[in-house]
Amino acid sequence: KHVAVLMGGLSSERQVSLWSGEACAKALEGEGFRVTRVDAGRDLPEVLHALKPDVAFNALHGRFGEDGTVQGLLEVMGIPYTHSGVLASSLAMHKERAKTVMAAAGVAVPRGKVVTRAEAAKAHVLPPPYVLKPVDGGSSVGVLIVNEDHERPPQELTRSDWPHGENLLAENFVAGKELTCAVLNGEPLDVIEIVPGEGWYDFEAKYAKGGSRHVLPAEISPFVYQQVRKLAVAAHNALGCRGVSRADFRFDDRKGGTGELVCLEVNTQPGMTETSLVPELAAFVGMGFGELVRWLVEDASL
Ligand code: DAL
Ligand code: MG
Repeated sequence: KHVAVLMGGLSSERQVSLWSGEACAKALEGEGFRVTRVDAGRDLPEVLHALKPDVAFNALHGRFGEDGTVQGLLEVMGIPYTHSGVLASSLAMHKERAKTVMAAAGVAVPRGKVVTRAEAAKAHVLPPPYVLKPVDGGSSVGVLIVNEDHERPPQELTRSDWPHGENLLAENFVAGKELTCAVLNGEPLDVIEIVPGEGWYDFEAKYAKGGSRHVLPAEISPFVYQQVRKLAVAAHNALGCRGVSRADFRFDDRKGGTGELVCLEVNTQPGMTETSLVPELAAFVGMGFGELVRWLVEDASL
């Protein structure tokens, strides 16, 4: 089979996608596939038309790769592709719409609202602590955490060259543990707790060596562990995801905390570097990276 690995692209997560794409391309070559690495730019339709791959392996993250648009192009061109389809991708990418759908399926989500950047810059839009994030971003790019000791909103918001879009999702900050669980072939994998080196799980902590520590299996009660797995599947199904997805949660387990478990989002194009969370979760149940990417290619469809 000839597999085109779509990577790079035009989003704020371009670099992450180049890492994911290279790791997947190498592993697919190791599995015996004929692989072409494709940087997904504006000329993607022409490139794919010339290549005529059997399968497009989607290793893109963010806008134009994770939001249903590339999926739509592949549908029109009749090229089977990995991961979620048009609607699920588009829904999951829009964090606010995704929350509405997840909540309707019984998955608790943080309270919050969509605000404009101008509103968020003028005055606190929620009582601190709260989080401001691009409504359709990823990898923590452009995320701001506003603590109790912030008298005013972060001044970055007034930047004339603010690159993260004008619509922000403001959410109550849920203190406690950061948990993640992947759904593969409709079944939940295990649960990882992410312990950032310092501060929170920002871009550095996500991708720098030693930026965070992963605890697998997460050290939480068996009940909460199973709850996370159950909710990950419920969220995956509610959004209509396919192949593999990864749901991110926060769990307030502090002494005197609320005990609440909320789903922050579902990633339809989770990071796929060899040290990323999904490959780690697959390896934990005995599925190596090569086997994982092979499975994704076999699962590809229109
Ligand atoms: N958005 C990054 C790639 C992730 O969710 O893994
Ligand atoms: Mg994400």
